[in-house]
Formats: sequence, structure tokens, C-alpha cells
Amino acid sequence: MIFIASIAKNIGMSDRPLLVTCGLPYTNGPCHIGHLRTYVPADFYVRYMRRAGEDVVFICGSDNHGTPIVISAEQEGITPRELSERYHRHFDETFRRMHIRFNHFGMTDDPTNHARTRSIVQRLIDGGYVYEQTVCQSYCPACERFLPDRYVEGICPYCGAPARGDECDQGCGKHLEPGEIKEPICKVCGGKAELRDQEHFFFRLGEFSDFLLDYLPRLGGTTNARNYALGWVREGLHDWCITRTLDWGVKFPAHEDLVVYVWVDAPIGYISFTEEWGEKSGNDWTQLWCGDARITHFIGQDIIYHHCVFWPALLRGAGYGLPSDVVASGMVKIDDKTFSKTRGYVVWTNDDYLDQGLPADYLRYYLLAYTSHTKELNFSWKVFSERVNNELVDTLGNFMYRTLHFTVRKLGGIPDLDTDPEIIAEIEATLAAVDTAMRDYEFKNAIDSMMALASFGNSYIQKNAPWKLIKEDERAAAQIIRNCCQIVKALVLLFEPVIPVKGQEAWEMLGYTDEIGAHGLGEALTGFAGRDLPAPAPLFEKIDEDTLARLEEILHMRVEHATMKEQKDETLLSIDEFAAVDLRVATIVEAEKIEGSDKLYKLIVDLGEETRQVVSGIARFYTPEELIGTDVILVANLKPAKLFGVESNGMILAAGEDASLLVPLRKVDPGTRIL
Ligand code: 2FM
Ligand code: ZN
Repeated sequence: MIFIASIAKNIGMSDRPLLVTCGLPYTNGPCHIGHLRTYVPADFYVRYMRRAGEDVVFICGSDNHGTPIVISAEQEGITPRELSERYHRHFDETFRRMHIRFNHFGMTDDPTNHARTRSIVQRLIDGGYVYEQTVCQSYCPACERFLPDRYVEGICPYCGAPARGDECDQGCGKHLEPGEIKEPICKVCGGKAELRDQEHFFFRLGEFSDFLLDYLPRLGGTTNARNYALGWVREGLHDWCITRTLDWGVKFPAHEDLVVYVWVDAPIGYISFTEEWGEKSGNDWTQLWCGDARITHFIGQDIIYHHCVFWPALLRGAGYGLPSDVVASGMVKIDDKTFSKTRGYVVWTNDDYLDQGLPADYLRYYLLAYTSHTKELNFSWKVFSERVNNELVDTLGNFMYRTLHFTVRKLGGIPDLDTDPEIIAEIEATLAAVDTAMRDYEFKNAIDSMMALASFGNSYIQKNAPWKLIKEDERAAAQIIRNCCQIVKALVLLFEPVIPVKGQEAWEMLGYTDEIGAHGLGEALTGFAGRDLPAPAPLFEKIDEDTLARLEEILHMRVEHATMKEQKDETLLSIDEFAAVDLRVATIVEAEKIEGSDKLYKLIVDLGEETRQVVSGIARFYTPEELIGTDVILVANLKPAKLFGVESNGMILAAGEDASLLVPLRKVDPGTRIL
């Protein structure tokens, strides 16, 4: 009991409930390592906080709206809802396989989120935070539609890099408002877009500057989130256009032919999914969003602006509780290369890892232990296997197995003795260090402290050599083993949030038959379920050379495929390049042989508004009489050339060895453009 009192003193527990959310994955592609870099630490944190006695609700869902999803669905010939449901299931399943366990995983296109979004937007309108304004927006005359966000590509007005309609993704990273992009091109047909006026609605983000300057310094979480956000607010905020001309999305309450911008209804999903969880579980969700709960968002570093600037302003305007912490993970590199799905520098969670029969726990461990949460993670299968083999297998697994094996074989069970005070002190120090690190979101440091306890255990058992001691002094050997068992128990309770499957297995090796999840960290210092233990088995298996080679090969092949595809794509014409060829219907009005050549005719063709002289190598296949009056296809914008001293201003299209002429099937006017 004294132990429990001392642990409560060390651990910074709070009475306020804690809501933890993870950035919502878009439903237009599968789960990859970049996603896991946010979700695994969030799951670790939640499991740890529960073990530390906190009341935590863990919420996530899929992000279904926005133009990339509409475009992907159009390309597949299915509806955006169908595409979203498919990837929603995919993420839900993948997270389960990775043992990332949300209390609820919702969809932003579900009715709860439509209703919650409309109600929040209505509150913003009522509060005077929204105004209508005409914007000059990209419009494609060929497709006859406005081109929101990803429907348009062009040049960033700030840095001149190629950019997407809503962000400068390859250059300065700035958010682009509708109409801002230069030289807009329609993503659907490749044609030039023009600017047209349209009525849109804006959120008065600029009015929230003072509020944000006061709120952000107090925002908890990682410093990267807070500092970036403060920098942006100090630079000055622009109002945000919060409507889009699209069918897919949440209808804007004051103008049903518009939908709200995806970055409005996506974070509102955090609220709606909490609401759905509340209804499902019979809990009061308003306590979390309208009470004194702590709200912690785990996100990727690329969406700090949305979570630390836009989102708090929106919540403030609509009268909801504010995030207390934003935890932003650094980016992922693959083998020292920038993460890129198109270039093959990606690791897919299912195909490349889980479906290869590898345990979720190993990948979780690697992602958490490798580097600080806010730093860039340079993924490598080699380092992955080294960390698993040296740390999980050789340090943690080795100590646990040695201890339990000796306990069962030589002592017939856990010695019924008190654990020595210096061992208790060592465990307490570890618990305190881990707790501090966890509350600072320093996950790597937390794991380093845990692993240091395992190393301590290894040194301790080695130094005291109970296998020798038992021959002279059985009681002394039993005391050493009791101490080691206590360390094992602490390690299992500490490590379970990192490696939940192995954690439960190890828990059972300690003689427990229930779920480890029900046990708090205070039990790291207390006794055991009983003396009897089942026969232990090694907990971890090494990643062997063959497995490592296979994992590396999968990545290597993917990069090679992507490179080949890219090269192939380069030889393909874009629609723009093709459109640059001026093909026209032309009527042959004169044809005569060129002196000195038996192959060439000098032709005069009628193009409606002009006639042209063209030299064509068809003299062996047609008589002038056959040709005169025939409609043919002319490449009308070739550079002039001289053949046998005769100028040619174009080329007649013909196919095959006997120059079969390409002709229009039906009569069209000479000069008609072909496209
Ligand atoms: O960047 C993204 O992948 C978004 N789908 C994240 C949304 S998080 C939240 F705000 F909903
Ligand atoms: Zn830019």
C-alpha cells in the first residue's frame, strides 16, 4: 500500500476527463507509414494515460469530403460515398490490426457530422463571423464548371512554384485562397481555366488575432505546433473562404448550392464522432466539448495551421471548448528520400508489413522508440530490424525470459518474499521518468527509460548470478529472483501500451488470466496474482536476414516500378501537348507532280479562310484526278520546309505502306479544327 501512495504522488494525474483525437485520414488511398507516425504515438499515449489512472476517450474517423476524393471517385467511375466507405473500412480494419483502438471511428459524411457542421456554421453566421463576398474564381469554360481547390493547378502567386488550387505543395507551402492561383489549368480536361465572379462566404479569421495571441502561448502539446502557429498569427491572418462550388460535402446553410470547405467539416468531425460515441455508450459528450475537459489533438506537422489557427478560432466563434494540447508529429522519410507515393518511397501498412506476417508490436516499437516525436523519422528496414533484434529481443525479451525461466525451473514459482527497497526505488524512479516524458510527449525518452530498466535487470541478474548463488544460499537466490520478477512485472505494465499484444502475453506468463488493461501502473510495485507461473516462452523473435532482405526488396521493387512508370509517362503527351497540334480538314484543289521526283506532289489545299501549298509523298499511289476534291486531314502548324526546292506548309495524314489517306467520314467544312 505504501507503494501505491508514493506512486500517486509521482504521477501527475488530473480529475478532468481527457479527450484525445487523431487527424482524420482522407478516404482516397490506403494507410501508410506516414499515417502510423501519428496514430501509433496517440494510441500509446492513450493506453499509458489510462494505465496511469486517467479517464480518456479516444476518437477518430475518416475524412470523406474535399475535391481529391471527388476526383478519385470520378476516375474509378464510382460515387464519392462508395469510395469513402471502402477506404473507411480499410482504415478501420488496419487500425485494429495495428492495435490502435479508438472508442469510436466515425465518418465525416455521416448525418451527425452534416447536422453538427450546419449548426456550428449557423452559429458563426448568427454571431456575425461570416460575410458574403464576390470572388474571382477559376472556371473551366470547356467543362462548364467552377474549379474548387484540387480541380485546378497552376503557379503559386507567392513563390512561383507549381501549385495546387488550395496550397503551394511543392514550394512555399502557403494556403491559397480561391482565385489566387496564377495561370490556372483545369485538372479534368487540361484546358486553360479563366476567372469568373462568384458569391462565396468568408470566415472572419482576421478578427481572432488577439484571441489567438492570448490563447496560443498557453496551448500545451509540442512546441513546433505552438511556435509555427504564433508565427503565422504575428504575420497577420487572412479571412478564410469557407464555401466551395461542389455537390459533395455539407451544404452551406445560407446557400444550399454551395458546400462548406472540407477543412470546416473535417475538424467538426471530432465533435460529431464524440457525439456518436456518447450516444453509443450512454455517456455525456457535452462534458468533453462544452465542459472543462482537456482536449488533445494528435496531428501531422503539415496541418498545424488548420488545428492551431483556424480550428480554435472556429470553436471560439461557435462557443465550444478549446483544444488544450496539439501534438504534431514530424514527417517521415524513406531510406533518406522524401516520402512520395508516386515515386515509390512509401511503406504500405498492410501490403508491405502486416500481410508479410510481421507483428504490429514490432512496428509500433520502432516508430515510437526511433526518434523524438517532432523530429523527422528516416524510415529504414535495416534500422527497424536492428532495433527489434537488439532492444526488444536481446534486452527486454532476454531479461524477462531468463527471469521467468529460472523462476519456474529452479524455484517452482515466484518466491513469497518482499521485494528489496533498492529495487522498488529503481522502479519508482523509472515510473517517474516515464511519466514526466509521457506528459511532455517525449515518447522516445519514455521508452528509453523503460528500456534502461530492462538493461538494469539484465545487469542485476548477471551480477548476482542466482544460478550460482542457489548452490550456496537458496534464500539469497530466491530474493534476487523475487526482485527480478518485480522488475519484469513493472516492465510488462510499462511496455504494454507500446506493444499491446506481447504485453498481454507477458502478463499471462506472470500468472495472470485477466486483461492487463484493467491494471494500473501502481501495480508495478505490488505483489503477484499467485506463486504459480506457466512455463515461459521467449516473447520476441529476431527479424532474420531473409525477412529483412524481403522487406527491402519490396521497397526496392516499388521504387523501380515507379521510376519506370515515370519514364513512360514522360514519353506520353499531355492533353495540352496534343492540343498544340493544329489538325484541320482541308480540301485538295490542285495536284501536280514535282519535277525530278516520282514520289512528290505539290498540292494546293483549301482551308476555308486560306489556301496552302503542301508537298506530299503520295504521287505513286494516287492520280491528280483521284485527289482533287478530296477532303483530307492537314497538320496545319508545322514549320515551313522545302522539298525539291518547293515550299511545304503542312503535312497531309496518311497511313500504311501505300499511303492510305485519312479522310473525314462525313462532309465537314474545309478548315474545321480537329480535337
Ligand atoms: O490532412 C489530412 O489528411 C486531413 N484529412 C486531416 C483532417 S484532420 C481534421 F481536422 F479533421
Ligand atoms: Zn508558393
